[in-house]
Amino acid sequence: MRKKITVVGAGNVGANCALRIAGKELADVVLVDIVEGVPQGKGLDILQSGPVEGYDVMVTGSNDYEPTANSDIVIITAGFPRKPGMSRDDLLMANYEIVKNATEQAVKYSPNAYLILVTNPLDAMCWVAQQVSKFARNRVIGMAGVLDTARYRTFIAMELDVSVESITALVLGGHGDTMVPIVRLTTVGGIPITELLPKERIDALVDRTRNGGAEIVKYLKTGSAYYAPSAAAVEMAESIIKDKKKVLPCAAMLEGEYGHQGIFVGVPVKIGAGGIEKVYEVSLQPEEKAQLDKSAAAVQELIDVLKQKTGQ
Ligand code: APR
Repeated sequence: MRKKITVVGAGNVGANCALRIAGKELADVVLVDIVEGVPQGKGLDILQSGPVEGYDVMVTGSNDYEPTANSDIVIITAGFPRKPGMSRDDLLMANYEIVKNATEQAVKYSPNAYLILVTNPLDAMCWVAQQVSKFARNRVIGMAGVLDTARYRTFIAMELDVSVESITALVLGGHGDTMVPIVRLTTVGGIPITELLPKERIDALVDRTRNGGAEIVKYLKTGSAYYAPSAAAVEMAESIIKDKKKVLPCAAMLEGEYGHQGIFVGVPVKIGAGGIEKVYEVSLQPEEKAQLDKSAAAVQELIDVLKQKTGQ
């Protein structure tokens, strides 16, 4: 039997997730959105690309969650995107309500699903989804590190004029300005990047990575990135569906790893048929650990605001 993936939010990120899932024939897709007609229309449009592209999955749209029943994966993209000048954190309260509602509805119909969160501020929204669903940590996964790493790899490849596929990198921490690209573990075909570029060039690439989302918001003016974010979310979904066991940087709830408890931050995890099958604890240099702690503190601050405002 075919797998089933629900994508909540049929906007830019959600629709592109649906298109990519269909293109890879990973699963049947149900798009859900509050705007009447949009998920139905986009679903039908994506379905009608099938004869041309050569895929056979079913894609439908809905304004309620009944058709999402028994999904294997639910990708939550519903929410407001950033506008120029906004930080991801500025979206906190507005997107809290949306993610809370989406999680409640989704898990009611799909109690065994894996949740992949995309809505920002990402790490705090993962926490909301976990609190609402009460799912174990292997079933709530945030999409951030795959995207941040993809941006970092892209910039390095452009700088060195090499294939992006030759670059292996790890970005830890929250999906915000405090993210921590681990330069020491960045390699180009196995060669440490520190042997190929001077420190000031590497620092510039790290800086551009940290501001990678804002760079695109500035260009688009009316919203935030969606091609790379949807590609990243679908890579995670594919690793679950195909049990690929890819090791990817994702937002995961820490249970003592890296000295943190009960918060979501980006760390390397193994993703397979069991969702997060392993959280890797990499030994960090004191400076790297300090940066990760700072990033985790920024996530904790948002969670504290949510706790205070919602009385949780
Ligand atoms: N339930 C379902 N869908 C909702 C809800 C809700 N409660 N509230 C809003 N939506 C829908 C909107 O109607 C819209 O179609 O979510 C969609 C969001 O789409 P866009 O505005 O195009 O935003 P997008 O670029 O897709 O970003 C969505 O992902 O990357 C993050 O920061 C980004 O938080 C943002 C999210």
